[in-house]
Amino acid sequence: MRVRLSPSFTIFAFAISLFATIRTDAAVANEPEKIAGPNACAECHKQETEAWKGSHHFKTFREMPRNPEANKIAQRIGVRRIRVESLCLNCHYTVQKKDDQDEPIAGVSCESCHGSGKEWIKLHSSYSGKTAQTETSAEKAQRWKLAEAKGMIRIHAIYQLAKNCYGCHVVPNEALVNKGSHQAGSPFELVSWSQGEVLHNTWYSKGKANVPANAARKRMLFLVGLGVELEMSLRAVAKATTRKAYAFLMAQRVDRARKQLAVAAKNAPNVPEIAKMVELAHSAGLKLNNERLLAIAADGVSKLIVSMTDKYDGSSMAGLDSMIPGPEKFKGTPRKPAAIN
Ligand code: HEC
Ligand code: HEC
Ligand code: HEC
Ligand code: HEC
Repeated sequence: MRVRLSPSFTIFAFAISLFATIRTDAAVANEPEKIAGPNACAECHKQETEAWKGSHHFKTFREMPRNPEANKIAQRIGVRRIRVESLCLNCHYTVQKKDDQDEPIAGVSCESCHGSGKEWIKLHSSYSGKTAQTETSAEKAQRWKLAEAKGMIRIHAIYQLAKNCYGCHVVPNEALVNKGSHQAGSPFELVSWSQGEVLHNTWYSKGKANVPANAARKRMLFLVGLGVELEMSLRAVAKATTRKAYAFLMAQRVDRARKQLAVAAKNAPNVPEIAKMVELAHSAGLKLNNERLLAIAADGVSKLIVSMTDKYDGSSMAGLDSMIPGPEKFKGTPRKPAAIN
């Protein structure tokens, strides 16, 4: 069933789509001209690279285009070559600029999550020109600050990390879902999806252990994850234009997230931001042609997530523990570190 549009709505929609292009809700902001590529990271990060090689993120590079379903999706949506069209590349691949050409070089890789690295790769590992022992703490702080200013997404930046995950895993693309019958996102949850096959916390343990997030960090991952789920699915509904699967499924995601957040608000009453997120999520109707209000709600949720990550470290949120998925729910198994030469 098609929704008929009046001429005035068409103009309105056009104005909004111009506006939408300058918003920052796109799936992952990798910049091909700034991609160093996973081989460059592997020179130092051997263990982390091995973990990555055991994940679906690595394998999608080869396996997705061979999947018969991939070709059906591509056909339905008019994509002729999966490895060339940016639509699929955005979420399944890492693209690097080589001789003025955009070339897919890997699946979802280091820089898909940690930010395009060319401008910070040397900087972050330089110990300010000294050694780990002789660099002063002021120099170290300055080094990390500069690396972040150049686009590095570090491990304390949970909101930015999560935004990247959800930017791909919500699949906020109406045509891809409605015309292509691509799945309308993953049943994603940040703790269970980051602590299994994706886990690669082997660097600071010098390769001795793949260290899981501790209880406090898990609470922050869980809460920020729910917040970002809400933000991204609000933005996804905002962009819906037809009364079809995409609109319904994205509205369902919003509803599920706000229900879970309502429970979290009760369990952690000392974190008033949670209830405020729920309130915001109810402030805009989950319907078509409501982009402005839905975007305002999403922006508000975003501000609340930022203020939570500034204010809390999770230590005072034990009330959330009963909601947080345990290891039996983790997606895949973390790689056990093993000596690599
Ligand atoms: C020349 C060696 C080297 C290369 C190449 C390298 N790194 Fe690192 N990386 C380091 C060192 C050293 C540290 C730890 C610095 C410290 O302890 O202050 C580090 C730390 C990190 C961290 C942890 C940051 C945090 O928040 O503590 C991340 C994430 C990371 N690197 C990602 C990458 C990525 C992605 C690439 C490729 C684009 C890369 N690194 C390439 C040496 C390197
Ligand atoms: C907005 C991000 C996004 C875009 C764009 C996208 N995908 Fe996906 N796709 C995903 C995610 C995330 C999954 C994994 C879902 C899961 O496992 O929960 C996936 C899964 C798949 C799968 C099933 C698993 C597999 O890889 O074997 C196929 C097939 C697929 N995508 C094909 C495509 C094709 C073809 C295109 C381009 C026309 C495309 N995708 C564009 C995010 C995206
Ligand atoms: C799917 C997103 C994703 C990909 C791909 C990814 N990382 Fe990470 N990385 C993360 C997250 C999230 C954390 C923090 C995990 C946590 O909280 O437990 C992290 C942590 C790290 C750390 C800190 C390890 C420690 O000992 O604490 C390093 C170093 C790192 N990543 C480097 C890399 C390198 C190198 C690659 C590519 C080979 C890579 N990452 C690929 C998301 C990713
Ligand atoms: C650039 C887009 C992108 C980003 C960023 C991303 N993913 Fe993925 N992820 C995918 C795609 C595409 C697949 C499906 C790969 C396949 O099976 O072909 C996937 C698969 C996975 C899987 C395997 C799912 C399964 O079916 O077993 C896990 C777990 C996962 N992602 C976790 C994460 C986490 C955690 C983050 C953030 C720290 C993240 N992803 C960031 C695109 C992305």
